[in-house]
Amino acid sequence: MHAWQFNEYGKFDTVLKWVERSSPTVGDGQALVKTTAVSLNFPDLLIIQGLYQHKAALPAVPGVEAVGTVVEVGTGSKFEVGQRVAGFNHSGGTLADFFLVNNDCAWRVPDHVTDTQAAALSVTYGTSYFGLKHRGQIEAGEVLLVLGASGGVGTAAVQLGKAFGATVIAAAGSAEKLSVCTKLGADHVINYREEDIVERVKALTDGRGADVIYDPIGGDLFDQVKRCINWEGRIVIIGFASGRIPEIECNRLLLKNMSVVGLAWGQYLQRNPKKAEACQLHLYELLADGKIDPVIYRELPFEQTLEGLRLMDSRELYGKIVITR
Ligand SMILES: NC(=O)c1ccc[n+]([C@@H]2O[C@H](COP(=O)([O-])OP(=O)(O)OC[C@H]3O[C@@H](n4cnc5c(N)ncnc54)[C@H](OP(=O)(O)O)[C@@H]3O)[C@@H](O)[C@H]2O)c1
Repeated sequence: MHAWQFNEYGKFDTVLKWVERSSPTVGDGQALVKTTAVSLNFPDLLIIQGLYQHKAALPAVPGVEAVGTVVEVGTGSKFEVGQRVAGFNHSGGTLADFFLVNNDCAWRVPDHVTDTQAAALSVTYGTSYFGLKHRGQIEAGEVLLVLGASGGVGTAAVQLGKAFGATVIAAAGSAEKLSVCTKLGADHVINYREEDIVERVKALTDGRGADVIYDPIGGDLFDQVKRCINWEGRIVIIGFASGRIPEIECNRLLLKNMSVVGLAWGQYLQRNPKKAEACQLHLYELLADGKIDPVIYRELPFEQTLEGLRLMDSRELYGKIVITR
């Protein structure tokens, strides 16, 4: 089969090559899937550089989520040949003609979901669903502040926040990105490159601050927004796209009766796969009900994978990039 492969860690445009390699061998509880659509994620850039939490064993194939048709099953696989499935692969491998899925990390795709939608509905929507619902404990009527709101996890958080009945304040770094958030249903928008985010959030909430802050960025933005959280508020830590892991003073938590909670979606697949599958099925229902729909910035053929990664790296995109076969 063919795959995008890197033999050493480095920047995607220097180390990633389109090569021929053998198809993965199917083990117990696994299925081999012929790829039709792969969604790119911010961590792909880190994985290729060897900077992610899990270091891929070289030579490696990037790509953590994809959709396709099952062509072979191992003993104990929950799938049958011919079924259309979406899968997550923590160790990568989906930017290839074929990829492996484990029982706990893959789901059948209902007919009403297109390949492109399904490819974009696992990592970012799963992350925002668990982040808001299980970790952030969001309630209808609360105020949700989403940082990086036009990005992959951000657009999912804006849509899911509205679906869960919150008032959503979307914060991003350009007018174009904010107009995307408005189209997604955000009630208010803030350009954090031009406006004082703390003052704007306070003004929008009669001085109270947001009940839930969804933060995939960290760094300086976290340092600011920890000052516009409501009493009993929750900051949900999703990631550090800014490149800096921030810190917080414990007295601030005490004085505001607030919480800072973390979310690593992939951990749910390993520790509570039933909960992850229930989330995925609910996401497919929300899609059918018109409550969510992934924003696709570009759909590109496999040959243009490097262009997709370049767009991610440039920070110019909004929503998702899906690579199709
Ligand atoms: N915890 C989990 O389970 C989980 C799952 C998936 C992703 N994540 C993490 O969530 C973060 C966002 O992922 P994503 O897929 O949504 O990425 P994305 O689509 O590239 O969005 C990231 C957003 O961050 C903002 N940003 C701020 N500083 C940036 C910088 N220095 N470089 C790039 N972007 C910057 C950008 O918005 P503006 O230009 O508007 O500021 C951009 O829209 C990443 O850190 C990723 O590792 C965590």
